[in-house]
Formats: sequence, C-alpha cells, structure tokens
Amino acid sequence: HTRWATHGRPTEVNAHPHIDCSGRIFAVHNGIIENFAELRTELAGQGHEFISDTDSEVIPHLVESLPHESVEELVLAVRLALGRLEGTYALALCSLDHPGLLIGARRNAPLVVGLAEGEWFLASDITAVIGHTKRVMPLGEGQMVVIDSNGPTITSIADGTILTANEIEVDWDVSQAEKAGFPHFMLKEIGEAPEAVANALRGRLDRSGSVQLDDILEEGGVIDRIDQVLLLGMGTSLHAAMVGEHVIEAWAGIPARAQDASEFRYRRPLVGPRTLVVVITQSGETADTLMAMRLAKECGSMTIAVTNVVGSTVAREADGTIFLHSGPEIGVASTKTFLAHLISQFLLALRLAELRNGIPVRQRREIATALLGLPEQLATVLAIEGRIAALARQYAGYPDFMYIGRGLGYPIALEGALKLKEISYLHAEGISAGDLKHGPIALLDSAFPVVALCTESAVAAKMVSNVHEIVARDAPVLALVSTGDPALLGIATDLLEMPPLDEVSMAILNSVALQLFAYHVAAALGLPIDQPRNLAKSVTVE
Ligand code: AGP
Repeated sequence: HTRWATHGRPTEVNAHPHIDCSGRIFAVHNGIIENFAELRTELAGQGHEFISDTDSEVIPHLVESLPHESVEELVLAVRLALGRLEGTYALALCSLDHPGLLIGARRNAPLVVGLAEGEWFLASDITAVIGHTKRVMPLGEGQMVVIDSNGPTITSIADGTILTANEIEVDWDVSQAEKAGFPHFMLKEIGEAPEAVANALRGRLDRSGSVQLDDILEEGGVIDRIDQVLLLGMGTSLHAAMVGEHVIEAWAGIPARAQDASEFRYRRPLVGPRTLVVVITQSGETADTLMAMRLAKECGSMTIAVTNVVGSTVAREADGTIFLHSGPEIGVASTKTFLAHLISQFLLALRLAELRNGIPVRQRREIATALLGLPEQLATVLAIEGRIAALARQYAGYPDFMYIGRGLGYPIALEGALKLKEISYLHAEGISAGDLKHGPIALLDSAFPVVALCTESAVAAKMVSNVHEIVARDAPVLALVSTGDPALLGIATDLLEMPPLDEVSMAILNSVALQLFAYHVAAALGLPIDQPRNLAKSVTVE
C-alpha cells in the first residue's frame, strides 16, 4: 500500500498497513491524525513501541490499548479509539484474531464499500472496485462499517446505533479503467475528449440554445433571488471555475467570482442566501472544496456541485448536481474531465442567460451550434497529435515555460502551465498576456519559451502585439493560431495551426492541444506521467 505521504517520507517503514506491538492488528489510513503526537507520547508512556514516522501508526496501538479479544470488544475498541482521534480519516482495520472481520470508518475522507456476491471491498475511490463490482455503498460522515460473512453493518461512530446506507449502481465500465493498449491512461483519456464532451452535452442542450439541467435553478423563485455567483475549486477545477466566471458574467450578466476553495475557507465569507455557489470538483472529495462548500451552506447559500462521481460526498451534500458523465479518469493529471467541466460551465451560463434574458436568442443559438459541433472538431485536434508531439520534443529541453492568454484564453493558459508542471516537472507559469509587461517579461530571454494562445477571440490582435514584444526579447514563441491566419507568420518561432473557430470552442480545443503538448514533453523526458511524483488523484487532506 502506498499512500500519499503526509507524515514521514514515502519509505517502506512508513508504508501501510501499520501494526500494533503484537503484530496482530492492522490498519490502513487515509487522512491526517492531528493529535497523533499527544497520543503517541501517551501510548509510548504505556510501553507501546512505534517504528514509523507516520501519524497513522497510533491507530492500531490505540485499539491494542483497549480490550479487543472478542469481536464485540474489537468493534467497541475501534469505536472508542476513533473517539480519541482528531483530524480526518478513512480507515480499514482488521485483526489476525478475527480473520473474517473487516472494519472501516470515515471522517472527512471518502470511503466506499463495494458489494459483490459473497465478497465486499473497502476503498477510497470507486475506480478501485469497479473491476469487481458496480454496486457501491458510500459511507456517510461519522459512520463506521463492520463487514463479516453476513455482509456490511453500518453504525454511527458517535453512539454505535445501526444505520441504513444507500446503495448505488455505478454506470462506469471496467474497460474504461484499463489502458486498452495506450502507453498511459493520460493519453487514452485525452483521446476520449470527443466522447467526454458529447456525454457532458447529451440531453442538455438543443440547437435553439435552450438548456435542461436537473438542478435547483428549476425551483420557483431561485433564479430571482440570486445576485452573485461564487465558483469554488482547486487546481484544474479552479481553472474551469475561472472559465465559468467569465461566461456567467458575459452571458447571464450576473456578477461572478471564481475562488480558490482553500482560500475561501479562511476568509470572511461574503456569501448568503442570494449567492449561488458552484462547487467544481472532478472527484467530489477534495477536502478544501468540500469544506468550502459546507461553509457556504452554513451561510445560507444554494450550492450546485459539478462533479464526475455519483455518490461522492460533495454530490451528496450539495443542493443540486451536474454530473460530468466522463467515466473514470485514472491519470492523475485531469484531462477529459477538465473539458467536461468547461462544458458544464458553458451550459450553466447559458441556462442562467436564458432565465435572465442575458443575451439575445440568436447569440444563444450560435453558442449552442458551436458547442454541439465540438465532438467533431475535437477529432481534428487529435488528428494533429503527431505535429504536437514533434513540437513537444523540440521544446522539451527548456527548463522554464510561460503560458499566456487573454479572455477565456487566460484560464486555459493557466491550465496548460499546470499540466506541464504536473507531469514534466518543468517550471511553467501561466499569466494573463496583459500582465506580461507588469513584471513577468523580465524573465524572458532566448532560454525561456512562451506558449501563446493566439486563436480566434475578441482580443486576438492584442495577443499578436504581445508576441511581438516577446520576440523582441529573443524568447522562443510557440503560438497557437487559427489555420490560415497570417498575423504571426515569420514572427513566432513556431505556429501550431488550430481550427479557425470562435473563442468558446477554442477554449476546449486549445486545452486538448496543450494537454497533448504536456504529455509529449513528459514522454520525451521519460517521466512516469500517470503517477507524477508528490501528487495524488484525489486530495482528501487539507
Ligand atoms: C489536475 O490535473 C490535478 N489533478 C489537480 O489540480 C485537481 O484538479 C485538483 O486536485 C482538484 O481535484 P478535484 O477536481 O477532484 O476536486
């Protein structure tokens, strides 16, 4: 078991499961035990010996310190031990003395029970069990599960009362969680872009620009009440939130703000019943995002979760949901789900625009036509993978990169830079092209290339001027341009010709080109790609 290390280096001795002194009680833990130092001192005082640097090791020792001979005693010992823990945990625990028994528990970290014929599984993520079963039971907050040959029994950690749990059927296919001949999940998942976009659109948008979303906006009075939209997310999901912010303001005319969920949590939350809070998270389990959503709910805001995982904590706790229907995403670097998140933002903004008469019907129709044409257009970008790979090999030797864009191109530039740094370990920063001359341009020289998003947009001419400024500083420029656009011919070092489409479509198509670029740079450098160092797919700790 290799867990993302919160305490101690990822070494063999720190690897899970952790065991008690007798070597009979085993625990696997995801989360952080915040009071582990105190507990460790207390247990060490009682003669317990610790061998790892982890916080998790206190758990089996704590259980060992309590009576645990019979099954009933062991279950009670776990419950009492959990009562002593501060922090977060998803836990699986067993004892050699009761081989037919498995105990799980959760507090602010996801845990699902997979249900198959005569066998049960505990996992932090549904993708871990879909090879065995599509029936899962997500554990609720503060719940514990005892699994024996009769199946799972769920109880409250606080008082041990028996609870009923909801079983859900996942519509993901096991083949979606296999590489199918691709060298990496990331490449396979980038290739699934047309399907991911089509799935996110399916049944939700017609050619007239009318949107159907099964969410709280449909409830009477909600739309009249909203006077601002707050979009929360982390990493790639925050970049999708920034796109949402842009189009909600542009199309619906409602003030919108994208915010880093981890920052929102610790600021004065200026939200309330008139704020619609859109929570963007692929996994539905990101701790920062979940906590921020809970804070917004406490302030009386309506919440809509946009997520890929049915049954995830965020999906269960939000007032409304928009599911991405992307299928499992295994690569740590988000690719197809970023596109699906963007589509969800476009749909949400269109729906708000429709309800608020934010833009003329003709404009909504144009946007709808563009969105519905995307799966086909994406195929044309995937078809130039060879050209993108050649460019990636050419640029892979540089240690630093700057990505620039304006308008919708700005969050896409941030996302392009994030993709590159995640998997290639090269320094990359995304900035708004307008900000270039306010400082970042000082970094540029012939060893510092710039990736510039210069495809169709209302600010395309300004991007061209920025490229001129960069070239004058000798920095190599890889410019993404509309096919046939001569503006940067002979100016930029390299041109990547993209379909000559509108700004909304290009947010999606440029994202795929930048994902492929990052992938091929990392491949050229011989890096692991699907399991980049120091990163986890779902970040369930703060
Ligand atoms: C993106 O490639 C990363 N995996 C990361 O930034 C991710 O988007 C972030 O941790 C948020 O995850 P979520 O969408 O599951 O909440």
